[in-house]
Amino acid sequence: MKRIITAVLALLIVTSCNGQDVKTHGRASQANNLKSQNMSKSFVIFFSHAGDNYSVGNIEVGNTKIVADYITEIKGADQFEIVTHKYDGMAYMPLIELAKEEANKGELPPYEGTAPDLSQYDTVFIGGPVWWGTYPQVMFTLFKDINLDGKTVIPFTTHEGSGLASCASDVKKSFPKAKVTGEFSIYGHEVRTGKAKVEKWLKSL
Ligand SMILES: Cc1cc2nc3c(=O)[nH]c(=O)nc-3n(C[C@H](O)[C@H](O)[C@H](O)COP(=O)(O)O)c2cc1C
Repeated sequence: MKRIITAVLALLIVTSCNGQDVKTHGRASQANNLKSQNMSKSFVIFFSHAGDNYSVGNIEVGNTKIVADYITEIKGADQFEIVTHKYDGMAYMPLIELAKEEANKGELPPYEGTAPDLSQYDTVFIGGPVWWGTYPQVMFTLFKDINLDGKTVIPFTTHEGSGLASCASDVKKSFPKAKVTGEFSIYGHEVRTGKAKVEKWLKSL
């Protein structure tokens, strides 16, 4: 009788240990699955200035935001908009002057909120308007607060003649340990009718 009880107890212990083992393992692989699902997800970081602008007049939604939203929708991505209220309500010409001064001085204006956690993403799109040949300075403020080591980084711009200008190479300088590739630019005045161009680019990546 004693032997039977000992055998039953041993069986119970083995079964419950196995059960726990399977559960823990299950939880771990579930976490891994979730991680790999997110790792295949893209993230879009962008800055865009609504209001008075070159070629398009006074716009409610900035040109780059339209492209960022196309990417977000098509790729099922998450996104972070870099926001500053520094340029709110400014007319085009004073903004041109202010942006030039910021670029010349290498100023880093603060952005609203906190930098996004990108640890779960392996592909990060970065987009903004070309301002004086590169991205607006506030984007470089954010660049200092994020780590893109080992990630695929895809720069894009909207512009009125400069194309990518030095945006992609400035991204490379800011993130030397990222794989910067697949860059794309589109005229600001084309974005509202340019979804197909964005789709074509995304398919080519
Ligand atoms: C301050 C400022 C500087 C600009 N500098 C350039 C430039 O150097 N090259 C260019 O092609 N377009 C330039 N533009 C035009 C913008 O890049 C273009 O209108 C862009 O689509 C605006 O995008 P957004 O509406 O997302 O801010 C400039 C516009 C502003 C307001």
